[in-house]
Amino acid sequence: MIERLKNIKEEVLDKIDQATSVDGLNGLRVRYLGRKSELMVLLRKVKSLPEEQRKEAGKLGNDIRKNIEDLINEKVRSLAVGVRDHVIDETLPGKKIQAGKHHPLTLFIRKIKDIFDGMGFEVIDGMEVEIAKYNFDLLNIPRDHPARDHWDTYYVTGGRSTAKTKEPGEQLLLRTHTSPVQLRSMLQRKPPVRLIAPGRTFRHEATDASHESQFYQCEGLVIDEGIKVTDLIGTLKEFLKNIFNEEIKIRVRPEYYPFVEPGMDIDIMCVLCGGKGCSVCSQRGWLEMLGSGMVHPTVLKNMNVDPKKYSGFAFGLGIDRLMMFYYGVKDVRLSYSGDLRFVNQF
Ligand code: PHE
Repeated sequence: MIERLKNIKEEVLDKIDQATSVDGLNGLRVRYLGRKSELMVLLRKVKSLPEEQRKEAGKLGNDIRKNIEDLINEKVRSLAVGVRDHVIDETLPGKKIQAGKHHPLTLFIRKIKDIFDGMGFEVIDGMEVEIAKYNFDLLNIPRDHPARDHWDTYYVTGGRSTAKTKEPGEQLLLRTHTSPVQLRSMLQRKPPVRLIAPGRTFRHEATDASHESQFYQCEGLVIDEGIKVTDLIGTLKEFLKNIFNEEIKIRVRPEYYPFVEPGMDIDIMCVLCGGKGCSVCSQRGWLEMLGSGMVHPTVLKNMNVDPKKYSGFAFGLGIDRLMMFYYGVKDVRLSYSGDLRFVNQF
């Protein structure tokens, strides 16, 4: 019997060693320690052994049983730890990672930059806090000129501006349009020049579905010998064709801006209703998109450009409106609401 017990022990130790799963180990437990297992049957027979063998066989049998039990439990524990630490269950649903989204205005401004870049324009930045000299004076809008009323201005007080307010041209303000970039850019450049400057602008206005007190404009400036109105119109048509992937009808209306002569506003035909009139174009069939014109000779002089030799055109494109139109957004205030339900749609 002792021989048999030792054999059983060896056999089980081998099997435990080879076991790779908790299920397998539980199977071994039933097979070698269960009531009907050979070990248990032998242990029950110990009683009937002759006196001298009984003690030894009983002790050995019980030790082996205890030994097997301990080894199986230990291995089960080590396998369970292994499952937790190393095994990846690829059938479990993954955790959703929250990714950020670009604001539609960001996306649209990138599109504008790309298109003008492809047309050979330089893309530059201006500053959002300006001085009156660049926002007004050098753009041929002198102080007390009634045209200043067109731009309801936020003036900036305090800070560095207080020391300089004695000189009215140094008065700090939030730029009311991107046109000051025309002058700033020409401080460092000589014609020929072809550039755009998209950026934020501010006006003290009551807000509604199509007006905000902050909005984006894209200034355009081209100066070279022999630049004509047709260059302006051709450039804008080419730009629009690239944005909408189709020929867009435009309408040119005369308009007064002190820094251009002649000055004109350009409308685009509503792509949604084909000019018939709908809610997006307020039944007009046309959408006002930008102010533009030929750079005024006085402004060219302020840029240190000789108006006898050079001419140029400039435009100020309303980015928010065109973006709304492009994506079908009905209320400009959504853009600045910070509402993720809006941003996540783009
Ligand atoms: N700066 C003008 C505006 O904001 C638009 C404009 C730009 C007009 C350039 C003519 C030339 O109203």
